[in-house]
Amino acid sequence: MLYNALMATINPGDEVIIPAPYWVSYPEMVLLAGGEPVEVATTMESGFKMNPEALEKAITPKTKWIIFNSPSNPTGAAYTRAELKAVTDVLVRHPHVHVMSDDMYEHLVYDDFEFFSPAQLEPRLYERTLTVNGMSKAYCMTGWRIGYAGGPEPLIKTMAMIQSQSTSNPTAVSQWAAVEALNGPQDFIPRHNKIFKERRDLCVSMLNQANGIRCPKPEGAFYVYPSCKGTIGKVAPTGKKLATDEDFVTELLEAEGVAVVQGTPFGLGPAFRISYATATTALEEACARIQRFCGNLK
Ligand SMILES: Cc1ncc(COP(=O)(O)O)c(C=O)c1O
Repeated sequence: MLYNALMATINPGDEVIIPAPYWVSYPEMVLLAGGEPVEVATTMESGFKMNPEALEKAITPKTKWIIFNSPSNPTGAAYTRAELKAVTDVLVRHPHVHVMSDDMYEHLVYDDFEFFSPAQLEPRLYERTLTVNGMSKAYCMTGWRIGYAGGPEPLIKTMAMIQSQSTSNPTAVSQWAAVEALNGPQDFIPRHNKIFKERRDLCVSMLNQANGIRCPKPEGAFYVYPSCKGTIGKVAPTGKKLATDEDFVTELLEAEGVAVVQGTPFGLGPAFRISYATATTALEEACARIQRFCGNLK
């Protein structure tokens, strides 16, 4: 979906702004489509949200798109109405920039957080926004391979042409399953979210009790993105000195059999990502092992 839109619009040299940390596929899709990814860095202190001035600075005459993802993979960070308004105010001033909003985690927000999408909040962006969503996350239909998008008609038509010459189409059975999921009862979503919130809170609390780990509490998605900066320079049970987040995750796997993903490939490290879309008992055990691993570092 996102890739089709990039393929439909990118000319050589076009730039695509990607706030970091990002879903690893965004820069690769931009490169495949012949564009240039331009990262806008964020920090843990800012809740992994873009500073509007940093965004303004990253925009050039060559900027074609910004890829916006709230709630985010990998951080779970989601923009409040006010935070999103600060971003859309900048974008309104640059009419050549198109907005790709990946709303995949729209329904997965906690603590009464209210989700807003750019085209919904700022009508002046409506005509140049592509809003993307899919069945994989809130509807637990990852294997059905259904995404969908709303945007300017000529763009959607070109995306459909690209799709029809590449994968041809998603299967009819998947399309009908998605129709049923979207039109059917939605009451399982708050039920799931209650469990996700408990798992998030469990992970955040247990990870913050691990030596050298700092874990912010994200607003949504099903990821936590703790910093492991406080472990860098320490020595693991194998005798290896931890120099990077890749060392941290490798040694953690070796010592405790816990698999997490290093943060650097997502565009901000030293950190790691945990998906808490798994059993609470498994998360509890994994976090206890992470605590033990961090406690044993010398
Ligand atoms: C932010 C984001 N967008 C899009 C996707 C793609 O989802 P799928 O291809 O499973 O529909 C993912 C999957 O991890 C994601 O995290």
